[in-house]
Amino acid sequence: MRNKKYYITTPIYYPSGNWHIGHCYTTVICDALARFHKMLGEDVFFLTGTDEHGQKIEKEAKKRGVTPMEFIDPLVARLKDMWRLLDVSYDRFIRTTDKEHTECVQKIYQKLYESGDIYKAEYSGYYCTPCESMWTEAQLVNGKCPDCGREVALQKEESYFFRLGKYADRIKKLYSDKPEFLQPKSRVNEMVNNFLNAGLQDLCVSRTTVKWGVQLPFDKNHYAYVWIDALSNYISALGYLSDDDSLFQKYWPAELHMIGKEIVRFHAIIWPAILMALGVPVPEQVYGHGWLLIGGDKLSKSKQDAVRKELTDPYELVKRYGTDAVRYFLLREIPFGSDGEYTNERFLNRVNADLANDLGNLVSRTTAMILQNFGAMPARGKVEEADKELIAMAEGLFDKVKDAVDRLNAPDALAEIFAVISRANKYIDETTPWILAKDAGKKDRLGAVLYNLAETVRICAVMLKPFITKAPELILKSFSCDVNDGFESLAFGKLKEGAKVEKLPPIFPRIDIKKELAEVEKLVEQMKEEQPAPVAETVKKEEITIDDFAKVEMRVGKVIACEAVKKSKLLHETVKVGDRTLSILSGIAKHYTAEEMIGKKVIVVTNLPPREMKGILSEGMIVCAEAPDGTLSVVSPEKDVPDGSLLS
Ligand code: MSP
Repeated sequence: MRNKKYYITTPIYYPSGNWHIGHCYTTVICDALARFHKMLGEDVFFLTGTDEHGQKIEKEAKKRGVTPMEFIDPLVARLKDMWRLLDVSYDRFIRTTDKEHTECVQKIYQKLYESGDIYKAEYSGYYCTPCESMWTEAQLVNGKCPDCGREVALQKEESYFFRLGKYADRIKKLYSDKPEFLQPKSRVNEMVNNFLNAGLQDLCVSRTTVKWGVQLPFDKNHYAYVWIDALSNYISALGYLSDDDSLFQKYWPAELHMIGKEIVRFHAIIWPAILMALGVPVPEQVYGHGWLLIGGDKLSKSKQDAVRKELTDPYELVKRYGTDAVRYFLLREIPFGSDGEYTNERFLNRVNADLANDLGNLVSRTTAMILQNFGAMPARGKVEEADKELIAMAEGLFDKVKDAVDRLNAPDALAEIFAVISRANKYIDETTPWILAKDAGKKDRLGAVLYNLAETVRICAVMLKPFITKAPELILKSFSCDVNDGFESLAFGKLKEGAKVEKLPPIFPRIDIKKELAEVEKLVEQMKEEQPAPVAETVKKEEITIDDFAKVEMRVGKVIACEAVKKSKLLHETVKVGDRTLSILSGIAKHYTAEEMIGKKVIVVTNLPPREMKGILSEGMIVCAEAPDGTLSVVSPEKDVPDGSLLS
């Protein structure tokens, strides 16, 4: 009989180099699921990779004066290193710059062009470069990207469009016919209410200005929109439309695309529509997990500095606490499907309480007592009433964990395993082996108690293998078991009398939380100081002509009144600029009080279009210098020149 197949994917990562603990979340969950399904004997294909095209990369490489590939290659190596440190056992790492991938994307475009699902028209819209997303004016929030709140740029160009609108009804039907397609359920409501009910506009799927991408086969001036390029990785990795599509035939449709909730729109609307247009079945499930919040935020690049109190660097976390601790925290702490908070303290408490105290203690007490009293594994002995609950829990563990994994719920799965570990610790207190050890007549009973403990530990170690990767092996080795033991070895009673038992050094040393927290804060400060100023600040911006510069009108202004805008980072200044009085909002409330601003001579950009924020009109911009740590300093003329003076 053919093994059941299981095709699981992570999103492909932007090669940003700024990865933090939140980024590891999606991939570590996928790894645990992939490992579990491999242990079930299924034919698993686990895909991850990098999303390397687009304007963002093109710009970053240009800033550094290198080619995009020269910029990306070391970052990809660093990402792979992160996955290695976290024991991520992917079967394929795809890069969107791989030749087979770009050829596949070209064939996909060609196919959609020939079927009439891609057509040429004029595009006019707002582009958010960090998100690589396009928006209509109506979708913008206060003129900014509705997803990330950053600046967008108006773009007009001749483009190719994908007939997304045509598929709106089929996508709605997909959600109702196949409720498991998009999970958790709340994401369906988001998609239907925010996008599908309003009707889908056709999607612009080519660019002429961004050349770092896949060139369209039917029009060499155009390059593929990065999201279509990126989404195609899920099938290009299997050889779709290539000479050898055997993997595609075998593994598609994917059982699961695991993604963060902010990219559900791409995976649950655009991707199924593309697949429908190609005549390819949609994946079984898209799961949009929640975020790890750091300082109350998803920790976008721009905000990382503000929350530097937390140690969020995955490389440093693994170095300090080990692979298991990081994996365990990610898989256990965040209620699945929802957001969860990351702090140094939460991390340390979780690792200490569960791994050092519960698991670490159980393992060291069990092996120490066996060695002390028997020198090797004792005989199983007679089962007494007091043993029954523990044995039943250990025997029933697999079904409970499997049930949680079937729901993709790693926190529940781990909670089940740790319930058995806690029960075993309680069993030690109930059976008091140290008292039994004092009575020679109770030697058999002592042996039976220790055997039951060792068996429970062994079963928990096997069950932990998909989730944490180092400790289970150490435990199995210390009981002379095969480290490759899988679910077939779960029957209670497998340990052999007389088997060698080795004492383990503490597998999770206990952490002195107070001391450690102080050290971590110091470390973070140090890392902050060592951090070079972000490239954006040290490298020259794109060159402009003197005529471009002349378009900006800057004048000296005098702040004659100023007040803080409630519940915001804004100050509202009244600025006298010659014979004009301007109302200006500036995001400097963290850096200046209203009183400090009054009387200051400042530089004002006076020919920006007026904008409204928080119900107040802003008619200009006060020029500030931004230090690498984000501190803002208002710029003033060196000599006392009258307000209204023009900068030239
Ligand atoms: N390149 C796109 C995906 C294209 S897939 C066809 C992308 N890349 S990413 O590098 O920005 O994100 C990779 C994964 O990290 C996403 O699943 C994202 O949700 C996840 N996370 C990034 N920050 C996160 C948290 N703070 N918490 C949890 N996961 C988050 O998006």
